[in-house]
Amino acid sequence: MAKITFKLPNGEAKIVDAPNGISLLEVAHKNDIPLEGACEGSLACSTCHIIIEDKARFDELPEPKEDEEDMLDLAFGLTQTSRLGCQIMVNDELDGLVVRLPDATRNMKVK
Ligand code: FES
Repeated sequence: MAKITFKLPNGEAKIVDAPNGISLLEVAHKNDIPLEGACEGSLACSTCHIIIEDKARFDELPEPKEDEEDMLDLAFGLTQTSRLGCQIMVNDELDGLVVRLPDATRNMKVK
Protein backbone atom coordinates (compact mmCIF):
# COMPACT_ATOMS: atom_id res chain seq x y z
CA MET A 1 0.00 0.00 0.00
CA ALA A 2 1.29 3.44 -0.87
CA LYS A 3 -0.04 6.96 -0.52
CA ILE A 4 0.05 8.67 -3.90
CA THR A 5 -0.68 12.32 -4.57
CA PHE A 6 -2.24 13.17 -7.91
CA LYS A 7 -2.07 16.81 -8.94
CA LEU A 8 -4.88 17.65 -11.29
CA PRO A 9 -4.69 20.21 -14.11
CA ASN A 10 -7.03 22.49 -12.15
CA GLY A 11 -4.49 22.74 -9.34
CA GLU A 12 -6.33 20.39 -6.98
CA ALA A 13 -4.28 17.66 -5.27
CA LYS A 14 -5.83 14.30 -4.40
CA ILE A 15 -4.05 12.02 -1.96
CA VAL A 16 -5.17 8.43 -2.30
CA ASP A 17 -4.33 5.02 -0.84
CA ALA A 18 -3.06 2.78 -3.61
CA PRO A 19 -3.02 -0.99 -3.08
CA ASN A 20 0.07 -2.89 -4.23
CA GLY A 21 0.02 -4.68 -7.56
CA ILE A 22 -2.21 -2.40 -9.59
CA SER A 23 -1.09 0.32 -11.98
CA LEU A 24 -1.22 4.04 -11.32
CA LEU A 25 -3.79 4.22 -14.12
CA GLU A 26 -6.05 1.82 -12.19
CA VAL A 27 -5.47 3.78 -9.01
CA ALA A 28 -6.56 6.95 -10.80
CA HIS A 29 -9.71 5.30 -12.14
CA LYS A 30 -10.68 3.89 -8.75
CA ASN A 31 -10.47 7.39 -7.31
CA ASP A 32 -12.28 9.35 -10.03
CA ILE A 33 -9.08 11.00 -11.17
CA PRO A 34 -9.42 12.06 -14.80
CA LEU A 35 -6.50 10.14 -16.30
CA GLU A 36 -7.72 8.81 -19.59
CA GLY A 37 -6.00 5.52 -20.43
CA ALA A 38 -7.77 4.92 -23.72
CA CYS A 39 -6.15 1.56 -24.46
CA GLU A 40 -6.52 0.27 -20.89
CA GLY A 41 -2.88 -0.45 -20.40
CA SER A 42 -1.97 -2.24 -23.60
CA LEU A 43 0.64 0.34 -24.63
CA ALA A 44 -1.29 1.47 -27.66
CA CYS A 45 -1.93 5.08 -26.67
CA SER A 46 -0.27 7.74 -24.59
CA THR A 47 -3.32 9.12 -22.88
CA CYS A 48 -2.23 7.78 -19.49
CA HIS A 49 0.77 10.15 -19.58
CA ILE A 50 1.77 11.36 -16.12
CA ILE A 51 4.63 13.47 -14.85
CA ILE A 52 6.59 12.47 -11.76
CA GLU A 53 7.15 15.68 -9.79
CA ASP A 54 10.40 14.71 -8.09
CA LYS A 55 13.32 13.76 -10.35
CA ALA A 56 14.93 11.65 -7.61
CA ARG A 57 11.74 9.61 -7.22
CA PHE A 58 11.52 9.31 -11.00
CA ASP A 59 15.02 7.84 -11.10
CA GLU A 60 14.05 5.21 -8.51
CA LEU A 61 11.28 3.78 -10.67
CA PRO A 62 11.95 0.69 -12.76
CA GLU A 63 13.19 1.68 -16.22
CA PRO A 64 10.51 1.98 -18.88
CA LYS A 65 10.34 -0.76 -21.50
CA GLU A 66 11.11 0.21 -25.06
CA ASP A 67 7.43 0.05 -25.98
CA GLU A 68 6.64 2.54 -23.24
CA GLU A 69 9.34 4.90 -24.46
CA ASP A 70 8.02 4.70 -28.02
CA MET A 71 4.53 5.59 -26.85
CA LEU A 72 5.82 8.35 -24.59
CA ASP A 73 7.45 9.97 -27.58
CA LEU A 74 3.95 10.57 -28.89
CA ALA A 75 2.65 12.00 -25.62
CA PHE A 76 1.56 15.58 -25.61
CA GLY A 77 3.73 17.86 -23.48
CA LEU A 78 6.45 15.27 -22.80
CA THR A 79 8.83 16.13 -19.95
CA GLN A 80 12.08 14.67 -18.57
CA THR A 81 10.12 12.87 -15.88
CA SER A 82 7.17 11.64 -17.93
CA ARG A 83 5.92 8.06 -17.68
CA LEU A 84 2.84 6.13 -18.71
CA GLY A 85 0.55 5.58 -15.76
CA CYS A 86 -0.51 2.13 -16.89
CA GLN A 87 3.08 0.87 -16.72
CA ILE A 88 3.87 1.82 -13.13
CA MET A 89 2.81 -0.79 -10.63
CA VAL A 90 2.18 0.20 -7.05
CA ASN A 91 4.38 -1.20 -4.31
CA ASP A 92 5.35 0.04 -0.85
CA GLU A 93 8.29 1.93 -2.29
CA LEU A 94 6.02 4.30 -4.15
CA ASP A 95 4.72 5.68 -0.86
CA GLY A 96 4.68 9.48 -0.96
CA LEU A 97 5.01 9.70 -4.74
CA VAL A 98 3.59 12.85 -6.32
CA VAL A 99 2.40 12.63 -9.92
CA ARG A 100 0.97 15.39 -12.03
CA LEU A 101 -1.53 15.07 -14.81
CA PRO A 102 -0.38 17.02 -17.85
CA ASP A 103 -2.27 20.15 -18.62
CA ALA A 104 -2.79 20.03 -22.37
CA THR A 105 -3.92 23.62 -22.57
CA ARG A 106 -0.92 24.98 -20.75
CA ASN A 107 1.47 22.85 -22.78
CA MET A 108 -0.06 24.14 -25.94
CA LYS A 109 0.59 27.72 -24.91
CA VAL A 110 4.23 26.98 -24.09
CA LYS A 111 4.96 25.50 -27.52
FE1 FES B 1 -2.74 3.34 -23.23
FE2 FES B 1 -1.34 3.44 -20.95
S1 FES B 1 -3.47 3.34 -21.20
S2 FES B 1 -0.61 3.30 -22.97
